[in-house]
Amino acid sequence: DVVGICVSGGLDSKTVALRLRLAGVKVKCFTADIGQPDEEDVNDVIKKMAPCGVETIVVDLKKEIAEGAFEAVAAQAMYDGGYWQSTGIGRYVTARGLLETMKKHGCTVLSHGATGRGNDQVRFERYVNVMDPSFKVYAPWRDPVLLDEFPGRTQMLSFLQKHGIGHQIVSQASKRYSTDANICGLSNEAEDLESMQTPITIVNPVMGVWPKDAPDQQEEITMKFVAGRCVQINGKDVSPLEAVQQSNQIAGRNGIGLCQALENRILGTKSRGVYEAPGMTLLGHALDCVYMSVLDRRSTALFRQLSTHISDQIYDGRYFDPSTRAAINAVWQLAEPASGTVKLGLHKGHMFFLSLTGCPHSIYFEEDSSMEASGGLNPASSQGYLEVSSVEAKALAKAKLIDTGS
Ligand code: ARG
Ligand code: SIN
Repeated sequence: DVVGICVSGGLDSKTVALRLRLAGVKVKCFTADIGQPDEEDVNDVIKKMAPCGVETIVVDLKKEIAEGAFEAVAAQAMYDGGYWQSTGIGRYVTARGLLETMKKHGCTVLSHGATGRGNDQVRFERYVNVMDPSFKVYAPWRDPVLLDEFPGRTQMLSFLQKHGIGHQIVSQASKRYSTDANICGLSNEAEDLESMQTPITIVNPVMGVWPKDAPDQQEEITMKFVAGRCVQINGKDVSPLEAVQQSNQIAGRNGIGLCQALENRILGTKSRGVYEAPGMTLLGHALDCVYMSVLDRRSTALFRQLSTHISDQIYDGRYFDPSTRAAINAVWQLAEPASGTVKLGLHKGHMFFLSLTGCPHSIYFEEDSSMEASGGLNPASSQGYLEVSSVEAKALAKAKLIDTGS
């Protein structure tokens, strides 16, 4: 067996790679380029892992993750607390991309670095299971032998040192929480963030700033959507990847997209997270302005159910499941009329609607909705509607089924 190890170049990755190699296991390391904004260059992972005597293969999945962001935006797939699921999206994109590459490199086992308490172990393993039932999974941080040898960072550091491998723990002094990052956003949790006495402002935004540090003037942005997909920003054509990157920059500098969640984990425990997703927050809000003008009431109700289902499924590591596929197809069908150009004002963490233009499928007609005299809906015709609806209202009253609380 050749074990494909998912690595980040961090302390855990180095420890696992070296420990397995020294035990005589054949290993190859893999890392995904999903536009990690907290990393200077993901190719550095190759250099960071090299002293452990292992080869590392970088797989470019930037297009795939941008598509994942677009789909989640189209489905408005936020989880508890307004979390845009940067990690949940990152996991199916990474698992799919790395598994394919591992197979090409002759691997038969995937080793992931997730802990035995969180969501990521469930996601990685379920994705491997559904994509290839014959592929094996190894979870070092659920292996009693490794847990016993490496109860903490100290033991990992001294193990690496013993084998002449240095490890810079640069960020640890100032940053005391764990971060998972990709182009969709950053998920921060653990360590100092576990206490509900710790304010979320201990987090240093990586993709932008806290609202108090954003400019005093409002910034305007226009976003053009075609069938639920952003195709232009400020009049210039953008690919999905560019749309996500530019939205991140523009929203980030205006303090948009930071939130906290006390979310429900897959295993049933709660998790306190601080999330940063400026681009998805902006794209999601802008698209919602278009949805509101094209979706009738029943489509809106159906959309909400689909959205909740898709969001839960992404969270639970069930992105490839049949019901997820069906719900996503339905979302794209409802999104077909969602074309139009939205102009928003961004100011210190807030987004203000300025205008909607070029929305051919809008069902908002001023004539019909106006409270002023107009040629639209005739108020006298409502008489009939109210006479009919009064029949049911009076039936409930006569049957004494109405409770006014007094
Ligand atoms: N709780 C989030 C999720 O399950 C984020 C997990 C990210 N991991 C981390 N090391 N910060 O999607
Ligand atoms: C981990 O457990 O490795 C990260 C957090 C999570 O999966 O929820």
